[in-house]
Amino acid sequence: MTSDVLFTPLQLGPFTLAHRIVMPPLTRMRAAAPDNAPDALNAEYYGQRATPGGLIIAEATWVEPMGRPYLDVPGIQTEKQIAGWRGITEAIHAKGGIAFLQLWHAGRIGHSSTKPGGALPVAPSAVAPAGEFPNAAGQRVPFETPRALELDEIPALIETFRQGARNALAAGFDGVEVHGANGYLLEQFLQSRINRRTDRYGGSLENRTRLLREICEAVAEIVGPGRVGVRLSPYGIASDTHEDDPMTLYTHVVETLAALDLAFIHLVEPRASGVGMREIDRAEQPQGATLFRPLWPNVLISTGGHTPESAARLVASGDADAIGFGRHFISNPDLPLRVKRGVPLTHYDRPTFYTKGPKGYTDYPFLESAAE
Ligand SMILES: Cc1cc2nc3c(=O)[nH]c(=O)nc-3n(C[C@H](O)[C@H](O)[C@H](O)COP(=O)(O)O)c2cc1C
Repeated sequence: MTSDVLFTPLQLGPFTLAHRIVMPPLTRMRAAAPDNAPDALNAEYYGQRATPGGLIIAEATWVEPMGRPYLDVPGIQTEKQIAGWRGITEAIHAKGGIAFLQLWHAGRIGHSSTKPGGALPVAPSAVAPAGEFPNAAGQRVPFETPRALELDEIPALIETFRQGARNALAAGFDGVEVHGANGYLLEQFLQSRINRRTDRYGGSLENRTRLLREICEAVAEIVGPGRVGVRLSPYGIASDTHEDDPMTLYTHVVETLAALDLAFIHLVEPRASGVGMREIDRAEQPQGATLFRPLWPNVLISTGGHTPESAARLVASGDADAIGFGRHFISNPDLPLRVKRGVPLTHYDRPTFYTKGPKGYTDYPFLESAAE
C-alpha cells in the first residue's frame, strides 16, 4: 500500500492538518532544573520536526512542581517557562505547523528527594508502584508509598491544569493534550488497583473517571473543546499500571470524553512500548484504535509501534485518522517527507533519548534535498 492516504487533509477542531503524521509527546530530559524552562536548543529540535499543517504534541510538561517526576523535564508554570515555550511555538509556527502541549502530573511516579520540601509524591491512594525510581542523586531506589490526596485538595489540583492551559495559550500553543496515559496521575485515578478511594473520586467507573473529566472540562473552558485532546493507554503497563478489565473501564472513559466533544483522543497502542530504556514487544495485544473507534466520533490518533505501512493501513481502514510516530520522529526530523517519498528511515539511538545536549537530539540527518 502506498502512503498517499497519510497525505490527505484532516480537520482537527478548528485546524486543518495537511497530513496524518503526528509527532507524539516525547520526554527528552533537556529542560534543566531548577528552571525547567525550554531553551533555544529545544526550539531548534521542535522546529526541525515541524511541517506545514503537521501536528506536534510537545512533550509531557508539568503543571505544578509536585507533578514533576524527573529533575530535567519542562514545566508550564513560571514566566521563564512560558517564555521558553514561546520560542518553541514560534519555531513550529514559522514552518506552518500546529503546536499542542501535553499537560502532565506524574502523581505517585517520582521521589520525595526531587519534590518541593522533600514531600512524598501524591496519588489517589497510598499504594506504592512496584519497582524502583531514580532519586535526586540519580540512584535507583524502591518507590515510596505516596500520600493519598485529600478530597479538599482536588479543586486546587484541577486549577493547576486550568492554569497550565492558560499558560500554554500564553506561550503560543494552539491547544493542549491532557496526559491521561502511561501510569501517571490521571491514569492512577482511573485504575482500580491503584485508586482505592471511597469518596466521589474512587469506586465506581463514574467516580474513577471524574477527575479526568473535570480536568478536561476545566481546560476546555480555557482553550475551547476543539483545542483539547486526551491521551489514554487502555492496555498499558507503564509504571506498574494494569487494569484487569480495560474494555469496561475505557468504554466508560471514552464515552464520557465523547460527551465533551473534545478534538481528539490519542491512544497508545499496547503492542509496543517505546517508553523508558527498553523495547517491549507485546504482539498479542489488541489494537486500541480498532476497539475504541466505534465509541469516538472525533479525531482518533493511534501511536505505538507503527511503520509507514501499518500507519497507511490503519488510516485507510478508518480505525484511526492520524498516526503518531515516537521513536521514528526522534531520529527522522523530516519524517513526513521520508514517508511520502518511501525512503528508508534513520534508526534511533536509544542511549541518547534521555541525555543532554544536541547529540541524539538535533543532529539526526535530513534528506539531502528537502525539495518537494
Ligand atoms: C524517549 C521517549 C519519551 C517519551 N515521552 C513521552 C511523554 O512525554 N508523554 C507521553 O505520553 N508518551 C511519551 N512516550 C511515548 C511515546 O509518545 C509513544 O507512545 C511511544 O514511543 C510508542 O510509539 P513509537 O512506537 O512510535 O515509538 C515517550 C517515548 C519515548 C521513546
